[in-house]
Amino acid sequence: MDVTKAVQTQRTIRAFKPEAVPEVTIREVIELAKLAPSNGNTQPWHIVVVSGDAKEQLKAAIRKEIEEGIKPYPVFPPGGSGLKGVYKDRQRACGFKYYASMDVDRADGPGREALMMRNYDFFGAPHAAFLSYPGTMNRANAIDMGIFLQNLLLLFVERGIQGCPQGALATYPGPVKELLPIPEENAILCGLSFGYPNYDAQINSAKMTREPFDNFADIVSTLTT
Ligand SMILES: Cc1cc2nc3c(=O)[nH]c(=O)nc-3n(C[C@H](O)[C@H](O)[C@H](O)COP(=O)(O)O)c2cc1C
Repeated sequence: MDVTKAVQTQRTIRAFKPEAVPEVTIREVIELAKLAPSNGNTQPWHIVVVSGDAKEQLKAAIRKEIEEGIKPYPVFPPGGSGLKGVYKDRQRACGFKYYASMDVDRADGPGREALMMRNYDFFGAPHAAFLSYPGTMNRANAIDMGIFLQNLLLLFVERGIQGCPQGALATYPGPVKELLPIPEENAILCGLSFGYPNYDAQINSAKMTREPFDNFADIVSTLTT
C-alpha cells in the first residue's frame, strides 16, 4: 500500500473484529511511528497500549468514576470545547451525521449520551492506546504528538488495522495514570482504540467529508500590491 492509498483508506472506525492484533505487529508499528519528526528531536511522545484483562480493569475503573458522578477532568482543554463559527458548524454537522447513522435523533439526549459512553468501552476494540507528553510542554509540541499519531494510523492501515483517536480518553486521566506505566510528569492528550475493522457494523457507516481545497488552501506565487 502506498502512502496515498493509506491516507485515502484511513478513517475513524468504531467497531472491530474480536481478534487481537499480534504484539509483534503493535511493536513494529510503534517502532516505525517513532521516526516522526519533532521539535528539536525532543520526541515528546509516550504511548501505552493496553489489552486483555488490563484493558477490562481500566475500563471498570473509568466507569466507576463516571458512575460516581465525577465530571470529566482533562489536563488539556478538549478539542471540541470553545469552538466558534464554521468550526462549531462542522462539529455539529459531524455529530448529527454520526447520530443519524446510528438512528439516534439529535433531540434524543439519552441516546446521544449512550453513544458517547461507548468511548469508555473503547468501542469494543481489543486494544486501547494512551498518548501522553509532559504537561509542562506547550501547544507547539502537540504537533509532534499529532504527527506521531498519524504515523500510527497510517502504519496500522497498511497492516489492515484501523482505529478511533479519542479525545474522550483524556477526560478521566486518574485511573489511566494510576493503573498504567505513564511518566508522572506526563498528561494524556488522547487515546486510540484499535483493532481489525468491522466495516459492516452500523456505527462504521457514516463517512465524514472534507472541505473543498479553496476553503482552506492557497498557493501564492505573485502578490498584488
Ligand atoms: C484528536 C482527535 C480526537 C478525537 N476524539 C474522538 C472521540 O473522543 N470520540 C470519537 O468517537 N471520535 C473522535 N475522533 C474522531 C473524529 O470524530 C473523526 O476523525 C472525524 O469525525 C472525521 O472522521 P474520519 O476520521 O472518519 O474521516 C477524534 C479525532 C481526532 C483526530
